[in-house]
Amino acid sequence: MAPSVVDLAGVRLDGPVLNGSGTFDAMAARRAFGDALLERFPFHAFVSKTITLEPRQGNPPPRLWETPAGMINSIGLPNRGLEGFLAHDLPRLAELPVPLVVSVMGFSRDELAGLVARVGERPEVAMLELNVSCPNVESGLVMGADAGETARAVERVRPLTELPIAVKLTPNAADPAAVAVAAENAGADAVSLINTLKGMALDPAGTGPWLGGGTGGVSGPAVRAVALEQVHSVSARVRIPVIGMGGIASGRDAADFLAAGATCVAVGTESFRDPAAGRRVASELATLDPSSRPVCPVAPAADALSG
Ligand SMILES: Cc1cc2nc3c(=O)[nH]c(=O)nc-3n(C[C@H](O)[C@H](O)[C@H](O)COP(=O)(O)O)c2cc1C
Repeated sequence: MAPSVVDLAGVRLDGPVLNGSGTFDAMAARRAFGDALLERFPFHAFVSKTITLEPRQGNPPPRLWETPAGMINSIGLPNRGLEGFLAHDLPRLAELPVPLVVSVMGFSRDELAGLVARVGERPEVAMLELNVSCPNVESGLVMGADAGETARAVERVRPLTELPIAVKLTPNAADPAAVAVAAENAGADAVSLINTLKGMALDPAGTGPWLGGGTGGVSGPAVRAVALEQVHSVSARVRIPVIGMGGIASGRDAADFLAAGATCVAVGTESFRDPAAGRRVASELATLDPSSRPVCPVAPAADALSG
């Protein structure tokens, strides 16, 4: 049986299944399903959509493209901004029956610090997740693609809150495990991965990129094998808990991520197809015998050789 109670960096969860940030709109679901959503909430913790300091409209449409076994999104982080989140969204998300993780993104370390300080003092919040898949306007580097940038960001915000901090790693880094180690050494309490892989689609009419944002992020079963390898290699290098995600659509998929070293898993794209997917994944996972899925050994360095 899968673990029923999970300690995620000091946050007690009734099970290991979270949502991937931005893939389940709990406020819209509450409007659609009413209190039934609270009675049968699909996840053991809820991760908010990423918020930024200022409100954002997001990218121009079209914002989605279906790929074989997945999709590319170019949503562009539309959100009400910090003040709008605190005034409007947080009271509603605080009604959910599970611990709340708030995802934040800053375009500079100052912005990130402002977000962490304000959100991190709210008693409704159990954990923060730093979405570092964005360029730092000061250096031009994508924070999460660079171990030094990630370390400086975590070092800056670590003293500003007592809440546990998870760093959401991007797969678009040369060495995600090195970024994870840098985050851990700088004081992160957990890492989550993977965020979407950079991708693009062309308009069938031949007029250029399909997505309004030009490029987007690939997610869904198409990225699962990439995610599993990254979760495995990151888990082998850090002592902090790993939240694994990327194409998880069944309990068996979730069990693979746990066997690869994750403490928790998150369901993302699958929730668009089936809003109750988190519950289904959790109940399928609970029927599996973990002893039949031993934690895989750390692969030798030569495993990088393929083909
Ligand atoms: C439509 C969409 C919106 C997303 N928004 C966010 C976001 O706001 N913040 C974030 O950290 N990740 C975001 N993600 C990434 C997911 O949380 C997840 O890391 C990724 O999709 C891989 O998991 P999956 O294949 O199960 O979807 C988004 C993904 C999708 C598909």
